Amino acid sequence: MGTSTERKQRVLTGYRPTGPMHIGHWFGNVENMLRLQEEHECFYFIADWHMLTTHFDRTAELPGFTRELVLDLLAAGIDPDRVTLYRQSDIKEVAEMTLLLGMITPLGWLERVPTYKERLRDAGERDIANYGLLGYPVLQTVDITIVKGELVPVGEDQVPHLELSREIVRRFNRLYGPVLVEPQPLLSEPPLIPGTDGRKMSKSLDNVINVRDEEETVRRTVRTFITDPQKVRRGDPGRPEICPVFTLHRRFSPDILAWTEENCRSGALGCVECKTNLADRIVERFRDFRERREELERRPGLVEEVLAAGAAKVRPVVEETMKAVRDAMHLS
Ligand code: TRP
Repeated sequence: MGTSTERKQRVLTGYRPTGPMHIGHWFGNVENMLRLQEEHECFYFIADWHMLTTHFDRTAELPGFTRELVLDLLAAGIDPDRVTLYRQSDIKEVAEMTLLLGMITPLGWLERVPTYKERLRDAGERDIANYGLLGYPVLQTVDITIVKGELVPVGEDQVPHLELSREIVRRFNRLYGPVLVEPQPLLSEPPLIPGTDGRKMSKSLDNVINVRDEEETVRRTVRTFITDPQKVRRGDPGRPEICPVFTLHRRFSPDILAWTEENCRSGALGCVECKTNLADRIVERFRDFRERREELERRPGLVEEVLAAGAAKVRPVVEETMKAVRDAMHLS
């Protein structure tokens, strides 16, 4: 692995602006992005066109969500001098290349992608079975290949998307010549962060703690968490292994983890106190983040500046790929 003379591999990942960042995102994505920016050449982008695949009827919220996401990433420590941070829709070549790759992507490949069926199911009554949603992996393939991304951080559930990207790349290169780079997955199993109801923390389940929630909001939300149903009052022995509050203690409370486990089991520790301890630590953990974010928020024009600089940085890379693609397809 990496001596300093070796070329760093290029990492690419996108983030859909669909609302406030919660602590599930933080441990699932953001910490990983922070680590990767130390070790690799990274391209991080705001996947605003991808957001439309499920939120096409909420475009009025897009500018706000984008702004919030950029501020969250900056406050978290994503460094735009070190990574290339840009907005997908600023790069119109992404749309051009999506049209071209769409010509060589069999419908069957797209219909087989498990996340497609899941998204349809999760949408419930809303009918989102649109061409754009089906084409989600084609657009994602373009995101990756247009900047020659080599490594794509994914969880297990995104592996089929990346497999499909690799198949599209191989088909393109077979038809038109070796132009596109086949990306590799960088597998990272996102930790399971439970929400207030014990299910996976997710905005659509309305069970989240957002990273920038005010202290009072964090405390109120933590109080609503379910715990071991057999532990009704202080004195009753509890089972930390089935308690979502304890799962969060594992992330936030190394200082009192053993003590919490022991005193929950014996019954000496009640859930109210246990939750207060957790809320204290969550508030503390994101204090710097909240302060930095407030500071960034007060700087007028910051978000537009960062996005404009990111677009300028990514543009030459994109233009080079796009020219090679047009040449290979005799479209120059
Ligand atoms: N699919 C990712 C998500 O659901 C977002 C995304 C879009 C992406 N394009 C990408 C991730 C390219 C990695 C690479 O949040």
